[in-house]
Amino acid sequence: MTVRRRRSCLTVPGDDERKLVKAAALDVDEVILDLEDAVAAERKEGARETVARALRDHEWRAATVAIRVNRGSAADLELVRATRPDVVVLPKVESAEELEGLPVPAEAQIETARGLVECERIAAASGLEALVLGPGDLAASLGVPELTIGAGAHVDYALARLVVAARAFGLAAIDGPYVGLDDEPGLRASALRSRALGYDGKWCIHPAQVEICNELYTPTAAELERARRILGVDGVARLDGEMVDAANRRMAEAILARLPPAQREP
Ligand code: COA
Ligand code: MG
Repeated sequence: MTVRRRRSCLTVPGDDERKLVKAAALDVDEVILDLEDAVAAERKEGARETVARALRDHEWRAATVAIRVNRGSAADLELVRATRPDVVVLPKVESAEELEGLPVPAEAQIETARGLVECERIAAASGLEALVLGPGDLAASLGVPELTIGAGAHVDYALARLVVAARAFGLAAIDGPYVGLDDEPGLRASALRSRALGYDGKWCIHPAQVEICNELYTPTAAELERARRILGVDGVARLDGEMVDAANRRMAEAILARLPPAQREP
């Protein structure tokens, strides 16, 4: 299975040439070329052409380039079939059947009440690599009286449920975007909340968010140093005033698993 890093997943409106050029050059783990909500209804057709050209013509620095399709759009799926991006992002997924027969690996956005109650069955679908929380659409679906994407009392529960479903089936878990622009403390707090639950990364909506997410979803030097000392303990021991045993060794392995394989050695 491909091990993709998804610390930062930058969405780019599929009809915006200037942003597509900019995104291609960024040190971001994944770029998502969006045909869905960032593109006005009358520009969808043009966006498919712009995305196809951008995929073909730009040198992409990101290891993973994805297309987000519109739910139920045959034309968008045709584009995915023709251009074969690394990944297809499916929005508003509500059943495992929606993931059948896709030409490339998928990421499923969970962002409706129905999607959330079905997320364990969705996570079991083959060809799926990640679950992605969509907090704005989920707020709308639940009737949460909020107007800012990511705000609302539903987010903690959705984050907790989604990561359990993802891990139960060996998938990555990706947090939705933080939409405050020029608000680094807010972005950090939002990313640290999902990091603390085990999330691999977060959607980014602006280039300024990418480096911060790359940093926050990478283990710190202190975490790595401690993880490696824990791996040196056999059986049970006192370490830094704490009991550590085999459970800590599994926790340390989980921290190291956040690094690319070549960097995991002690
Ligand atoms: N991807 C690539 N480049 C982006 C970008 C993105 N998501 N967002 C902004 N940029 C570029 C701008 O083109 C600009 O480049 P330039 O200096 O070469 O012109 C630079 O970064 C600074 O942008 P800024 O002026 O701060 O942004 P803005 O105010 O024009 O736009 C948004 C704000 C929110 C409209 C814009 O960031 C955006 O389109 N984000 C993505 C939205 C999206 O994909 N939503 C759907 C999924 S949630
Ligand atoms: Mg959405």
